[in-house]
Amino acid sequence: MSPTPNTRAYGYTDTLDAEHYVTALRSDIRKGLTSTPKSTSPTWFYDARGSELFEEITQLPEYPLWRAELGLLRQYARGIAARTGARSLVELGSGSSTKTKLIIEALGPAGLHYVPVDVSADALHQAGAQLVRDYPGIRLHALRTDFTAPLVLPELPEAGPRIVAFLGSTLGNFRRPARGPFLRGLRDIMRPEDFLLIGADLVKDEQEMIAAYDDDQGITAEFDKHLLHVLNRELDADFDPDAFDHVAVWNSTESHIEMRLRSRSEQLVKIRELDLAVQFERGEEWITERSAKFTAEGLREEMAEAGLRTQELWADSDAGFVLVLATAD
Ligand code: SAH
Ligand code: AVI
Repeated sequence: MSPTPNTRAYGYTDTLDAEHYVTALRSDIRKGLTSTPKSTSPTWFYDARGSELFEEITQLPEYPLWRAELGLLRQYARGIAARTGARSLVELGSGSSTKTKLIIEALGPAGLHYVPVDVSADALHQAGAQLVRDYPGIRLHALRTDFTAPLVLPELPEAGPRIVAFLGSTLGNFRRPARGPFLRGLRDIMRPEDFLLIGADLVKDEQEMIAAYDDDQGITAEFDKHLLHVLNRELDADFDPDAFDHVAVWNSTESHIEMRLRSRSEQLVKIRELDLAVQFERGEEWITERSAKFTAEGLREEMAEAGLRTQELWADSDAGFVLVLATAD
């Protein structure tokens, strides 16, 4: 259960009132399901169950990127703390904040300002309750917002460097043309003494990349189809999850994995809240998520183009994942 506002031992700001959320959802789904190919934002996966399914994905043998980043943070969190001297940490798409604990501990939790930013209220509440229990001196201010919109941070101390962290390769959920403006937006809220810490998954063997999004236990398939439950509930739609198959495809031109839902038959789906009927052909595929895979040099260049100067770049031993620490130019 989520704590009620007056019993919460930490600050909580929600900029996503129901209307804002529903307006954004409606507009993305209408546009996405009337385009060719059909394609929607991955943001809608993350209600309570969606966040739980993502946590299950992180433990799958086929999904090594989560553990690769964990390993890098185990190795370098102390170096990051020494290098940055940060007393404030803002984290976009923080989810369970599990890996972030390594950074929090390295920075010293007592008196540290930590601002987890996520669209999932449930993820923020669960992580928040645990963080204040584990680190009684931490100054936690959870922010429920959409990180694709310009970021307005809660009050943080003026002085002292901050780290803005964006872990888990969630940057890869933006397509290449959208990443530049997004990174520039982050650069614009950074002061000269601040740092950006990005975790990014690298291009590797195609079958390995595909398996990470199509595991044997079918957890990723369940995550993908969970979108249909969200749309049935939020938009009064009548999607039948059994009428779709989950597929993962490597798109080498765009250097990303696409998760797709493939219609098993020709079907017409009603989305009553949108007053829309969507036709699916047999075998038609709807792109539900894109996960870009980077090269270290490519990422360094993208960041430079956005005015971010790489200070450190750490790769794991298989060179499958990198952590990049950058400053604003
Ligand atoms: N950083 C964590 C979680 C990654 S999962 C980790 O590495 O384990 C991606 C997270 O981003 C989820 O918690 C999801 O709720 C959040 N998210 C997705 N789209 C978002 C958006 N548009 N705005 C804010 N948070 C978003
Ligand atoms: C959060 N995001 C970076 C994950 C990814 O790898 O694209 C979400 C995910 N989707 C399927 N598996 C994991």
